Amino acid sequence: MKGCFITLEGGEGAGKSSNLEFVRRCLERHGKRPVVTREPGGTPLGETIRELLLDRGNSAIADDTELLLMFAARAQHIAQLIHPALERGQWVLCDRFTDATYAYQGGGRGVPRGRIAALESWVQQGLEPDLTLLLDLPVEQGMARAGRRSAPDRFERERTEFFERVRAAYLEQARRYPRRFRVIDASRPLEQVQRSLAMVLEEWLAQR
Ligand code: TMP
Repeated sequence: MKGCFITLEGGEGAGKSSNLEFVRRCLERHGKRPVVTREPGGTPLGETIRELLLDRGNSAIADDTELLLMFAARAQHIAQLIHPALERGQWVLCDRFTDATYAYQGGGRGVPRGRIAALESWVQQGLEPDLTLLLDLPVEQGMARAGRRSAPDRFERERTEFFERVRAAYLEQARRYPRRFRVIDASRPLEQVQRSLAMVLEEWLAQR
């Protein structure tokens, strides 16, 4: 039997890290032992590509180069980790996936949707998440939360307008794929966000 592929998405300061751990624990309570991974990254080569992408020193990366590096890391991730795990019947919980490319490279950078879609179908060969949890919150609030953390990487240095476009593109993805997406209001205190996450997961698991 094939495993399930769950992704967690959200803008800066949406609380992805603490909630990823929470989702993992919820799945474990239901007897699933997900492989937890992230993008860009998830494999040794992917993590090296991640370093290039996040390095503030690489200010000259062109938009198409950024897009191709994201998909290069993703191709390796699918071949080496995601596909084999799903084939073994394991569950995979991934911190960001291609919806982040539509949000950041599509919305944020303005790369045409068709260019992303072409790479998506080439690299993924029909693979898509079974469930995508989108942590949504106003940009100002997210930036205020993220600002309290360490030195900003190449993406975190972007301006408010960039993140407004990222948020709008994420919500557009959610509207396009309502069966796969669940949008969680992440502007609330963590306990309330996690209560919603738990409910959404219970409901989704019960339907399977
Ligand atoms: P992280 O903050 O979730 O660790 O992700 C690293 C950054 O990479 C984050 O700012 C979003 C960005 N990113 C993209 O721009 N496109 C993508 O396809 C992915 C997966 C991440």
